[in-house]
Amino acid sequence: MAKKIAVIGAGYVGLVVGIGLSDFGHYVTCVDKDNRKIKLLKKGKAPIFEPGLEEYLDKNIKAGRIRFTRNIKESIKENEIIFIAVGTPSQDDGDSDLSQFKEVAKEIVKNLNGYKLIVTKSTVPVGTNRWLFNLIKEKSNNRNFDVVSNPEFLREGKALQDFFHPDRVVIGYGREKAKEIMVDIYRSLYLIETPFVLCNWETAELIKYASNAFLATKITFINQIANLCEAVGADVHVVAKAMGKDGRISPKFLHPGPGFGGSCFPKDIKALVKIGEKCNTDMSLVKEVINANETQKLKIIEKLERNLVKLQGKNISVLGLAFKADTDDIRESTSIVVINKLIQRGAKIKVHDPKALHNAEKRWGKAIKYLSDEYEAVRNADAVVILTEWNEYRNMDIEMLKKLMKGNVIIDGRNVLSPSRVKSLGFKYEGMGRK
Ligand code: UGA
Repeated sequence: MAKKIAVIGAGYVGLVVGIGLSDFGHYVTCVDKDNRKIKLLKKGKAPIFEPGLEEYLDKNIKAGRIRFTRNIKESIKENEIIFIAVGTPSQDDGDSDLSQFKEVAKEIVKNLNGYKLIVTKSTVPVGTNRWLFNLIKEKSNNRNFDVVSNPEFLREGKALQDFFHPDRVVIGYGREKAKEIMVDIYRSLYLIETPFVLCNWETAELIKYASNAFLATKITFINQIANLCEAVGADVHVVAKAMGKDGRISPKFLHPGPGFGGSCFPKDIKALVKIGEKCNTDMSLVKEVINANETQKLKIIEKLERNLVKLQGKNISVLGLAFKADTDDIRESTSIVVINKLIQRGAKIKVHDPKALHNAEKRWGKAIKYLSDEYEAVRNADAVVILTEWNEYRNMDIEMLKKLMKGNVIIDGRNVLSPSRVKSLGFKYEGMGRK
């Protein structure tokens, strides 16, 4: 049966979840404090770039199944089901900052008016859902509510696809009633035989951290093997392909690169280390992933210095700023470390990205030059660095590149170009983990 649901927080997660739930036929109210965002959404405009988002937004606004508001109080009162999808960023010590989550919890306590099912979508440290349950129980003095942990596994750039075709749905619950409502909310997925993992709060919370930490470890592993490949003259792509043939390993997430970024992996693995510390449990492997990833980001600078000797005064073009393709998100992207180092070293920097230039401009202002055409971005460059695997770069006209550049150095952080082809045109080319 169609339900009335409030989704609090209209960021990457809340927005995709809200739009996805409305597409399942539910009546969704998306709540956010940011007036600019709400105004855009009401007009059917997405405040972020995510493939398919505006199409689904438009469809569900027209069907009258989704609306947007800043009024959190009314939204809590009017809806029985409340999804919390606010941000839980990293604090300086790596712990999650739960201030926005706690603010929402307080609003829920203040506005209880009958049964409520509170669903935690935000990634929260283990123990947070129990804390939320105890808080509401204590303050409301009744048991007319339930708390569910329902972590998300959405990848940016493929978020809608992941929402409609997830590998699994994880539901951490306390009472049967809550479980039944959740299964009903996700009925469309149940019908297509999506695996449901039904467990307690702590298990659900940890599944999310363990999954992200494992994937980050896998990437870090292949990055270190790539570095070793360079040292011994092996080809990491062949190594990864052969490893991936072993069903226990799988070929996914074995693509070497300039270090992982994004709003999730870096934040979540730091939080997992903190959770381990608080429980006196050794998390040294995960801790090392954080260090190794920071070192990996510097490989790009090492490669540039090896080929250009001095970076001072050199024209460097950076192609790709987003932490991966199909997003405009530059949070924790390797481009941040690389560009900051290049600025420090006195290089002259031009950048291009198909979607993320507006976010880059907010970060670097006038310190670098922003070009909306990739060929303009490489004009007169001594070296070109590719940091994001956008299709535009895979299909670049290399002969044109040669004509436009002043120098001949290409550092391909994502291995999107063909080494033999670029070398045949006289480029000094370095990829990741292959000669
Ligand atoms: C990640 C997880 O994949 C999602 O399942 C999870 O829901 C999400 O975090 C989250 O916690 O919200 P996302 O951060 O969007 O999703 O991006 P990924 O596709 O996982 O990529 C993360 C980083 O790893 C990117 O910088 C990417 O370029 C890098 N990467 C990925 C590699 O360097 N090599 C690979 O083989 C795969």
